[in-house]
Amino acid sequence: MVEHEPITWRAGGEMGVVNSIEDAWLVIEQGRIAGFGSGEAIPFSDDEVFDCKGGLVLPAFCDSHTHLVYAGNREKEYEDKVRGLSYEEIAKRGGGILNSAARLSETPEDQLFEESLERAMEIVRSGTGAVEIKSGYGLNIADELKMLRVIQRLKAETPLTIRSTFLGAHAFPGEYRNNHEGYVSLIIREMIPAVAGEKLADFIDVFCDRGFFTAEQTGRILEAGIKHGMIPKIHANELDLSGGVQVGVRHGALSVDHLEYLGEDEIAALQKGRTMPTLLPGASLFLGLKYAPARRIIEAGLPVALASDYNPGSSPTGNMELIMSLGMIQMKMLPNELLNAVTLNGAYAMGLEKSHGTISPGKVANLIITTSMPSFGFMPYSYGTSQIRHVILNGIIQ
Ligand code: NIG
Ligand code: FE
Repeated sequence: MVEHEPITWRAGGEMGVVNSIEDAWLVIEQGRIAGFGSGEAIPFSDDEVFDCKGGLVLPAFCDSHTHLVYAGNREKEYEDKVRGLSYEEIAKRGGGILNSAARLSETPEDQLFEESLERAMEIVRSGTGAVEIKSGYGLNIADELKMLRVIQRLKAETPLTIRSTFLGAHAFPGEYRNNHEGYVSLIIREMIPAVAGEKLADFIDVFCDRGFFTAEQTGRILEAGIKHGMIPKIHANELDLSGGVQVGVRHGALSVDHLEYLGEDEIAALQKGRTMPTLLPGASLFLGLKYAPARRIIEAGLPVALASDYNPGSSPTGNMELIMSLGMIQMKMLPNELLNAVTLNGAYAMGLEKSHGTISPGKVANLIITTSMPSFGFMPYSYGTSQIRHVILNGIIQ
């Protein structure tokens, strides 16, 4: 996926476009891509050469939606789900997000960091170079700040490029069960200013869906976030048509994510804005939900990004190769569309399209070297078997 000029995103029919060269060489200088070409005399000396042995060189994955900072896991709850309870029923019983919040609250910050660091390094090995990570298992000021500080430490101590998101509006904590307005007001008046005061979040997110936050509450929370310099990027329409897409586009959201439910009004809203529709097929697989209508979105001339949603409740994996396979098997996306969805379009959904997501001169040297596969389509096709041989981040082999 080589580009000489930086591009913003690929949408509609352009999602099927991937420029590539054969017999290629690529030069890295100080962690950036200095240039590339094919065939002609290679402008560097032999001792610096890394032979890709017939593999493809791809941009590293840009995973624009994760919750990979969390404490413990929810595998017991998943057994309840297998026995027949729905995601919403589990949430209503105090399980789900509230269960993760209870575990996070009793976990010291250092331990939370160690658990999260393991997941961060796991996604590095599986080819991710840039990732967005959300708070949202704190649900009170102290614990939300604890999560966001752990994200800052991951920024400093891993080779990943990380963008952080404040998701205080992920669920209503138990003590606000009958006072939703009280929690919305806590988020707006106290949490957002505290987070902004420590410069801990690039983005603001709200879970705008049936049984969680309404579109009206979402709008007010986004406005407060914007006033404090955070860009909206929201969860919408996982469980129903929530009005989330419209409220997101109206507030200039960088992305609206999930979209398992999507009507004509939502498509029309997206066509008017610059918001990236981001689909999370891991959550559909794990929760048994329907899959978002990727083909309809692309055929409406829009872009699509795919992300892992790595979290303990609805998608406990950050494996972007698997996410691409789900995009192909379940959403009928084609190989080139998948590659654009997990690289350039994911980068756009994090505001990183100028520095990540394609192999272009000047961009960060975040690259995947694959096995000597017959074509790129072999990667999503061979689901469950990784085709990644090496991962290079900031010019360094991981
Ligand atoms: O994106 N939908 C809301 N949030 C997460 C799930 C969080 C959880 O269950 O812990 C999601 O699917
Ligand atoms: Fe999510």
